[in-house]
This record gives sequence, structure tokens and C-alpha cells, in this order.
Amino acid sequence: MSYKIETLISEEELKKGILRVADEINRDYKGRSVHLICIIKGGVFFMTELSKHLNMDVTMDFMSVSSYGSGTVSSGIVKIIKDLDDPIEGRDVIIVEDIIDTGNTMKYLMQLLEDRKPNSVKLCAMLDKPSRRVNDIKPDYLAFTVEDVFVVGYGLDYDQKYRNLNYIGAVVFDE
Ligand code: IMP
Ligand code: MG
Repeated sequence: MSYKIETLISEEELKKGILRVADEINRDYKGRSVHLICIIKGGVFFMTELSKHLNMDVTMDFMSVSSYGSGTVSSGIVKIIKDLDDPIEGRDVIIVEDIIDTGNTMKYLMQLLEDRKPNSVKLCAMLDKPSRRVNDIKPDYLAFTVEDVFVVGYGLDYDQKYRNLNYIGAVVFDE
């Protein structure tokens, strides 16, 4: 099937949105330190841009998860491909994710991380697609809400491509 990619959020807009999120985190965590957990691969671009604007002590770790299930249907069962390097007990954790869609991945992951006894866990997402949610997951920090379209760029892929785009694009399939 042929398709094209239409710009949805330009690089400039993205940077502004991310800066706004960084300001909120700077305000909320003033005088504390944060431990960012980046969900790879999609969250990498967002986390690097975001973290450059944080003014407290920041540490980082990376986790890779995949949702079991066929195609684009998220099953709610999550497999850990790469676990964290360091314990999170007692730390103020912020999960940094590319996009919340059904919310299945985050529902599972937040519970898993809570079980490791951090001081706190918040969720920070670059994009949110609330129209597709199947549970009560809500990002604590959010740069942009998007409609129910398939988006790529700034970490997000379609068939592993387009992660390197410096903007968010919508994949538009030809009739
Ligand atoms: P959820 O468990 O349904 O919330 O799935 C979230 C994950 O699905 C995200 O972390 C993305 O990796 C992927 N995903 C969901 N929507 C999109 C999209 O529009 N473009 C690219 N990846 C997406
Ligand atoms: Mg993801």
C-alpha cells in the first residue's frame, strides 16, 4: 500500500512543547533530583531534548519493552527486552515515553516499576492519543495530544523507519 507522510508537528513546535514540559518538571522537582527512565527506542529523541532543559540533578536509565500481540493490536501483555541497569528504590522516577496509545504498555510498566519501591513514579509522554485508551492511564506531563492517526518521526517508527525525522508526521495511506 502506498502512503505519504504529512507534517503534523514541526520541529519548532515540538521544541516549544518540550520546553514547556521541562519548565513544568523544573517547577515540580525544584531542589530534588530526577531519575529519567527512557523507553527505547521511541523515547530517545524526546528524552535527550527534554533533559537538556532540566536544571536539577538528572540521572538516566533505559528500558526496552515490547507488547505481545499481532500487528498494531496491543495485547496488554508486555515483554521486557532490556531491563534497567540500576535499582530505582527510593528514587523519584519519571518514565519518558514517545506516545501513549491504548495505554496497555504503560499500565503494565508503571505497576512493574511501582513494585520496585521508588519514592515516586510519574509519566511523561511526548504524544498522547486519548481516543484509543482502554484504561485509566494519563500522562502527568505531556507535550502534545494527537488525533487517532498513525504518527512517525522524532523517535516514532513505521516499520522501523522514520525515527530520525526531526518533526512528527502523520502516515496517510492512499485510497
Ligand atoms: P500502547 O500500549 O497501545 O499505549 O502502545 C504504545 C506504544 O505503541 C508506543 O510506545 C509506540 O511504540 C507504539 N505506537 C502507538 N501509536 C503509535 C503511532 O501512531 N506511531 C508509532 N508508534 C506508535
Ligand atoms: Mg514505545
